[in-house]
Formats: sequence, C-alpha cells, structure tokens
Amino acid sequence: MDEPQDTPRETLPVAEETAGGDAVATGGRALLVYASRHGSTREVADAVAEEFRAAFVEVDVYEADSAPPPAGYDAVVIGGPMIMGWHKDARKYLKRHRGELGDVPFALFVTAASLTEDGVNAVEGMPIAKDPWLVKKPRNAEKLSRKERYALPRHYVGDILKDCAPARPRNVAVFAGSLDLTTMNLFEKLFVLVVIGATPGDGRHYEFIRAWAAGLGEALAR
Ligand SMILES: Cc1cc2nc3c(=O)[nH]c(=O)nc-3n(C[C@H](O)[C@H](O)[C@H](O)COP(=O)(O)O)c2cc1C
Repeated sequence: MDEPQDTPRETLPVAEETAGGDAVATGGRALLVYASRHGSTREVADAVAEEFRAAFVEVDVYEADSAPPPAGYDAVVIGGPMIMGWHKDARKYLKRHRGELGDVPFALFVTAASLTEDGVNAVEGMPIAKDPWLVKKPRNAEKLSRKERYALPRHYVGDILKDCAPARPRNVAVFAGSLDLTTMNLFEKLFVLVVIGATPGDGRHYEFIRAWAAGLGEALAR
C-alpha cells in the first residue's frame, strides 16, 4: 500500500466553492454511527466527525449497537469495517432504519484490507470514493483470481446497497483500514492472510479520509 494507484478525485463529494472566508457551520445536527471490531474504524469515525464539525452545528458519534435512530438528524454517516462482509452491527443499523434513511441525506464508509481496481467509480449508479492507497490492479483484468473477484467494489458495496434499499446513500467511501495481527485469533489471521491475502499493518491515510469527510460534510449541510 506504499504508492497510491489512480486517485478517483471525481468520486469525492466535494462541494462547490463558496465565496470566500472560513467555513461556518450551516448544517444542523449530524449523526455518525460506526461499528468496529478491533478499534481502528472507531478512529476513522472520529476523524470524519471532526471534519463534519466544520459544517454542522452538532455532530453526535455513536457505536452502531447503541446508536439512536436517524429521525431528527439532518445528515447521517454510517461506517464500519469489512469483516467477512460489512460489520454485522453496521448492517443491522442500516437494515433496521432503512425506512427513515429514505428521508435523511446519508452516506456510508467502509474500511477494508483489499479492494480490486476495476476502473469503475460507481456501483449500481452510486458514486464510490475508492482510497487510492487501497485499490490494487488485478494481475490479469480479463481473468480475475478468486481473491480479486471477492474484493471487487461491486461485491463489497453491492451487498450494502441491498441492505439499505430502497434508501440510497449519497456516496460510499472505501478506505484502507488497519490490520493488527496481535489482536486477532487464529481463525481471523487465517482468513485475512490466506483467504483475502491482506498485508498486515496500518494502511489508513487520513488525508484522503479527511478530504472525503470535509467535502461530504459541506455537501450534506447545504
Ligand atoms: C476477521 C476479519 C475479517 C476481515 N474481512 C475482510 C474482508 O472480507 N475484506 C477486506 O477487505 N478486509 C477484511 N478485513 C480487514 C478489516 O476490514 C480491516 O482490518 C479493518 O480496518 C478493521 O477495522 P477495525 O479495526 O475497526 O475492526 C477483515 C479483518 C478481520 C479481522
């Protein structure tokens, strides 16, 4: 994950330039819901929340299993890691509240250890912001390996979009996460190393995460 591959800037929800001056919070209340297995996605959620504070008067951050419903908020972000599918608590929150999410602008983020570059920055018409430090070009684009197929954006994100249908997020980001083998049991180690072929280490790039969050916050607060 040393060198970023193609940077899909156009998939970032960057708001239009506003005339001069420092950013002033114009949005009302935002809700940030996250799930995390080993803690690194919680830190990503905190960085997203910090950026949102420039755009929203109030930003509440909750873990998914104890988060309030989206009603009463002006924008919602739900984030979680891929843990053999999107984290179950993030999925549960999304499914439980998909009715209300139809009435609130919302976005999603995913942390992951692998993502195959397929040259497409959308899944089912939904813009995807792909972390350039995470995406990896397939060895042979004509014939993807099993691991490469598994890590396709349409596989990861397609399942999540099914969970929230008919509500549709404004944007979905897939960020490089962090893999600390010392926190994992044997089964987890085998899965990440053998099945998905991930490289251990902290791959998070806060510049990318914060740029996504800042653009999104501005766009959702308008
Ligand atoms: C048991 C387990 C399963 C994982 N499954 C996937 C996966 O299917 N695809 C992927 O890209 N990353 C996968 N990962 C990597 C995590 O998504 C990544 O390490 C994430 O940053 C972990 O976030 P957390 O520290 O908040 O739990 C998995 C990690 C673990 C421990």
